[in-house]
Amino acid sequence: MARILVTGGTGYIGSHTTVELMQQGYDVTIVDNLSNSSVDVLEGIEAIVGRRPEFANIDCGNFVDLDAVFRTYPDIVGVIHFAASKAVGESVEKPLLYYRNNLGSLVTLLEVMRAHSVANLVFSSSCTVYGQPDADHLPVDETAPIQKALSPYGNTKQINEEIICDEAHADAHLHATILRYFNPIGAHPSALIGELPNGVPQNLLPFVTQTAAGLRPQLKVFGDDYNTPDGSCIRDYIYVVDLAKAHVKAIDRMLHVADRDQVEVFNLGTGRGLSVLEIIRGFEAATGVKIPYTIVGRREGDIEQVWAAPKKANEVLGWKADTPIADVLLSAWKWEKHIRNL
Ligand code: UD1
Repeated sequence: MARILVTGGTGYIGSHTTVELMQQGYDVTIVDNLSNSSVDVLEGIEAIVGRRPEFANIDCGNFVDLDAVFRTYPDIVGVIHFAASKAVGESVEKPLLYYRNNLGSLVTLLEVMRAHSVANLVFSSSCTVYGQPDADHLPVDETAPIQKALSPYGNTKQINEEIICDEAHADAHLHATILRYFNPIGAHPSALIGELPNGVPQNLLPFVTQTAAGLRPQLKVFGDDYNTPDGSCIRDYIYVVDLAKAHVKAIDRMLHVADRDQVEVFNLGTGRGLSVLEIIRGFEAATGVKIPYTIVGRREGDIEQVWAAPKKANEVLGWKADTPIADVLLSAWKWEKHIRNL
């Protein structure tokens, strides 16, 4: 069976994708430097799948180490590149760290792929590349204009996409699928893997579940004076397991469909926008747990509203994010309870 290299495979989306790949029969080698994840995640994956992925604790910005992994596994036919630093606020404080990590690792990966004639790359990008789309570009499809990034993190995603396109232009052998995620949330239904934020969570759902668990006194809702029906920001929250399945579809397509563009881009979202207040109410309804919250001022750099037009992914990849939001929110709570022994 074909082997997929998953960089950042012990991370949040990487671990869920590894599970889905292995359940579809792929062999997986994970490379991860464990900078924002734990080696224990491998136990969770093994418990779900019944097989353990291969694992190398290396930094994929290191050519020699990454090259050694490709030598060890000559059956690698594709790579899914998740490994990256992803905290927007931290990227503003430490831009060089973000440029070094996120650009250096992709450049090194492409060099090693070229050296080993591995042709297929799936790249983990973000809807952040669209910024705040105009009203006539909502919902956002793949033709919406790319706007100047609001953070070094967002800029690394844009530059990475450009690096991939430039390299594909130079090397006809390279094929790439760029996946632009909206807001991934939730955890595997087994509660054996999930999101493990470092310190105080910056993202909404981990903050909600930690507040529900009593770790945080209350959630701050950043702004209720936006031009949206209830005044809070709107996002397209996508279940991480649905998102993981899209990666398997992308790999299947790269391996089995000849008639496709050399670089393809897909927006991965549900097609439905939910406000922060709708998420809070939905969580309370799904779990029966109250979330104490207070409205505070807007968060700098936040976008008012964005949600996906996932038609291209639906039709071309034959994929749809259709897990009901109540189930998604419940999975996040089940995971939080699991890690807190509640
Ligand atoms: C941000 C990034 C995105 C990145 C993602 C994951 C931008 C524009 N977006 O998404 O590129 O992939 O993080 O790191 O940079 N909220 C609260 N209270 C909280 C936390 C969040 O009200 O304590 C609100 C936010 O104002 C926002 C929504 O919840 O309206 C979602 O926030 P968050 O989970 O941080 O994701 P994004 O900012 O959409």
